[in-house]
Amino acid sequence: MQEREHLATRLGFILVAAGCAIGLGNIWRFPYITGQYGGAAFVVVYLVFLVILGFPIMVMEFSMGRAGQLNIAGAMRALEPKGSKWHIFGYAGILGNLILMMFYTTVAGWGIAYLYHTAAGHFGGLSPDQVGAAFGAFLGNTPELIGWMALVVAIGFGVCASGLQRGVEKAAKVMMAGLFGLLIILIVRAVTLPGAGAGISFYLKPDFANLSWEAVYAAMGQAFFTLSLGIGSMAIFGSYIRKERSLAGESVNVILLDTLVALMAGMIIFPACAAFGVEPGAGPGLIFVTLPNIFNAMLGGQFWGSLFFLFLTFAALTTVIAVFENLTAFAMDEWHWSRKKTTLIGGLIVFVLSLPVPLGFAAWSGFQPLGAGTCVLDLEDFILSNNLLPIGCFIFALFCSWRFGWGWDKFTKEANAGVGMKFPVWLRGYAGYVLPAIILFILVMGYIQFFA
Ligand code: ALA
Repeated sequence: MQEREHLATRLGFILVAAGCAIGLGNIWRFPYITGQYGGAAFVVVYLVFLVILGFPIMVMEFSMGRAGQLNIAGAMRALEPKGSKWHIFGYAGILGNLILMMFYTTVAGWGIAYLYHTAAGHFGGLSPDQVGAAFGAFLGNTPELIGWMALVVAIGFGVCASGLQRGVEKAAKVMMAGLFGLLIILIVRAVTLPGAGAGISFYLKPDFANLSWEAVYAAMGQAFFTLSLGIGSMAIFGSYIRKERSLAGESVNVILLDTLVALMAGMIIFPACAAFGVEPGAGPGLIFVTLPNIFNAMLGGQFWGSLFFLFLTFAALTTVIAVFENLTAFAMDEWHWSRKKTTLIGGLIVFVLSLPVPLGFAAWSGFQPLGAGTCVLDLEDFILSNNLLPIGCFIFALFCSWRFGWGWDKFTKEANAGVGMKFPVWLRGYAGYVLPAIILFILVMGYIQFFA
C-alpha cells in the first residue's frame, strides 16, 4: 500500500487547520449572529463554549485522525471495537462536510463577486436603498451566482488536485499570511473612525438580561461551526501529521488563531456600523449590504472595501480547500481513487449539489422551509450547524471516553504523544458525561425555543 501523504512542516499543519477553521463563520456568520443576539453577552457564551466544548473535541478529532491515519469514517472504523458500528457516524461526518460545501461555495462566491464589484466601482455613488436593492438583484441573478459558485469549486478542487504539500499546504500559507496582513490594516482603519466607540462597547460590554436559550443554542452552533468540529474536518489533518507534537497544544494554537480572527472581524464591523449610524442586527446581509454602504460613505471606500472582500475571500477559500481535501481524502482512502480522478469527480458532484442554494433565491424562492423569508441556504445551515455538528461532537466525546468506543486510555495516549502541552487525563468524567450532557441539554432547549 502507498504510504500516506504528510504535511511538510508544523507551521503548515497549523495554518491548514486554522485555515479550515477561519472562514465565513468568523467574518460573515459570527458578526451577524452576534448582532442578532445582542452583542457582548452572546460573545461571552460563545467564548466559554470554545473552551469547554471546542477544545476537548478538537483534540479528539486530531487524535482520531492521527491514530487512524485515515479520514474520519475510516479512522472510526479502524479504532472502534471489532463488530461495533461507530463508523456510521464517520460517514455522517463526511456527509456533513458535503452539506457544508453545498451552501458555503455559494456564499464564498458572493465574497469573490463583491471583491470584483467593489474593486470595479460598481457600488460607488449608490444610495443605501440602492445598495440593498443591488444585493437583492444580485441574489436574484441565478446565472451570476452559479458562475461565482463554480469558480469557487474550480479553485478549491484545483488546489487539492495539485497535491497536499504543493497545493493545500502552500495555498494555506500564502492565503493565511495575506489574511492576517489585511486584518491588521482593516482594524486600524475601523477603530480610528470617528464615532467608533459605541460599536466597540456594543461588542465588549455584556448585558445578560436579554440572553435567551435560543442565543445559547446559537452560540454553541457557532462555536462548533467556526472550528469546523463534529464532522471530522479536523480529523483529516491529524492523519497528515506524525507524532512529534502533542495535540492539545496544537489545538490551542488553532483555536486562538480562529478566535482572534472572529473577534477582530467584529472589531472591524461593529465600530464601522456605529461610526455610520447603522444597525448591526441586519442578519446575513450585514456584510453585503451594510458594509458596502459604509465603504461608500468612507474616504477611499473603494480601496478599503476591496481589501475587506479580499480578506473575506482568503478566509472562505482556505476553508473550502480544507473541506474539499476531506472529501478528496475520503474517496482516496475508501475507494483508492487517484487524487486527480477524485478531484475531478468531486468537483462535478459538489457543483451539482450546490445548485439548490442559488436557485433558492430565485426560481425556488417559494420554498421557505423554516418559516417565512427562509430559503434553501437556511435549511442546509440549520441541518448542519444546529444538528449534525452538535450531534457529531456528542458522538466523538462518547467514542473517545467510553470503553465500548475507542476508549479514554487510547485516546489520551494518542493525544499526548509527542512534546508540548498535555491533555489532562483526569478530565475523563467531564469528557464522557458532563460534556455530552451539556450538548444534549442545549440541543433540546434550543429546539424547544426554536420551534416554539
Ligand atoms: N469553520 C468554517 C468557518 O468558520 C466552516 O467558516
